[in-house]
Amino acid sequence: MIAEPDARAARIAADFPLLAQPTSRGKRLAYLDSAATSQKPQAVIDSLVHYYTHDNANIHRGVYELAERATDAFEGARAKVARFVNAAEPAEIVWTRNTTEAINLVSFSWGLANLEPGDVILTTQLEHHSNLVPWQLLAAKTGAELRYIEVDAEGLHVLDDLDEKLRGVKLVAMSHVSNTLGTIAPLAEIIPRAHAVGAVVLIDGAQSTPHFAVDVRALDVDFFVASGHKMCGPTGIGFLYGKRALLDAMPPFLTGGDMIREVGYERTTFNELPWKFEAGTSNIADAIALGAAVEYLEHIGMDWVAAHERALTVYALERLQPFVARGLDIYGPKDVTKRSGVISFNFADIHAHDLASILDLDGVCVRAGHHCTMPLMDKMGWPATARASFYLYNTERDVDQLIVALDKAADVFKVA
Ligand SMILES: Cc1ncc(COP(=O)(O)O)c(C=O)c1O
Repeated sequence: MIAEPDARAARIAADFPLLAQPTSRGKRLAYLDSAATSQKPQAVIDSLVHYYTHDNANIHRGVYELAERATDAFEGARAKVARFVNAAEPAEIVWTRNTTEAINLVSFSWGLANLEPGDVILTTQLEHHSNLVPWQLLAAKTGAELRYIEVDAEGLHVLDDLDEKLRGVKLVAMSHVSNTLGTIAPLAEIIPRAHAVGAVVLIDGAQSTPHFAVDVRALDVDFFVASGHKMCGPTGIGFLYGKRALLDAMPPFLTGGDMIREVGYERTTFNELPWKFEAGTSNIADAIALGAAVEYLEHIGMDWVAAHERALTVYALERLQPFVARGLDIYGPKDVTKRSGVISFNFADIHAHDLASILDLDGVCVRAGHHCTMPLMDKMGWPATARASFYLYNTERDVDQLIVALDKAADVFKVA
């Protein structure tokens, strides 16, 4: 039992106003879809309201007090994110709309400048489409080969043939944590071996950054990307971390205002880092609010967040166990130390979408579908899965609500 962490999570839930809202059927909300997007604490909502009420002005250009205040808040948020992932300096953090845009930035900028026919991009079989489609297109444009680290039936990376897989590799691009199976990638083993063959490493941290402490320097990643909306921040803001030497050498991605130093009719020179990659007016308010989200998470403590989610995952897996005899299939690593707070499942012959709709009647929000990992679903032979995912505000009560709703679904669909 996890009485104390659960009590703290219940107190944390009170910081998230949306969670107190009953459903239209009057049910308590059990929000179990944080892998898709997280809810927002009052501190983040307040940050947005404060910015538009008191500080709104365009940044970097104005010399008046208001514009300076907006600029300071915007750059201050960058420094907070840099500290949160332990970047060496704020200039190594580039604001993007989300993980997807950050990966595309690297693909278009670093990828087109550095890859040629015969080079290899190595990824894995469990990537989100965001960390797959850009590399497919880059391979097609440059003549590079796209190669995959395989995963086994539990969704664990198969590393027996890693040396062979790494032959000729210029870029390794893989997720830290799988959004479909929760698998935590063995990066400590893969990254040094990738560097040993001279490869650059990009890690998709969309599902790790919100849930446990990330240290980009300890990991020794070259690029690291994440989305604000999955880590208590607003939508429309994410970031790319890159080692300065790499970012400095890269050509701009999008071009226009703010990313320039001097523009003439014949030629243009570009701004220094990180602004070289931030063309046009930035998403100022959301960047500042992401700074507030990061402060909120730091105040709670990422080690506590990780421990709480692990305990809740263990509790959920225990409570789901009796359903296995009735046809519940639970996917992902059996060893809980190798998985995050994401549980994908199918129940008897109920389609995942029907199951999610029935659970919704009881206020339980789970995702159903391919989770933007269609090749993985094909490989595993699942048309879809239902997915419950936990965050710092979930409690045993949410899991209990899921269990009761699953029992009802068994009745509705006449599961033995
Ligand atoms: C592992 C992973 N990578 C990338 C993404 C894409 O994130 P975004 O849609 O915020 O760009 C997601 C979103 O679910 C994800 O889970």
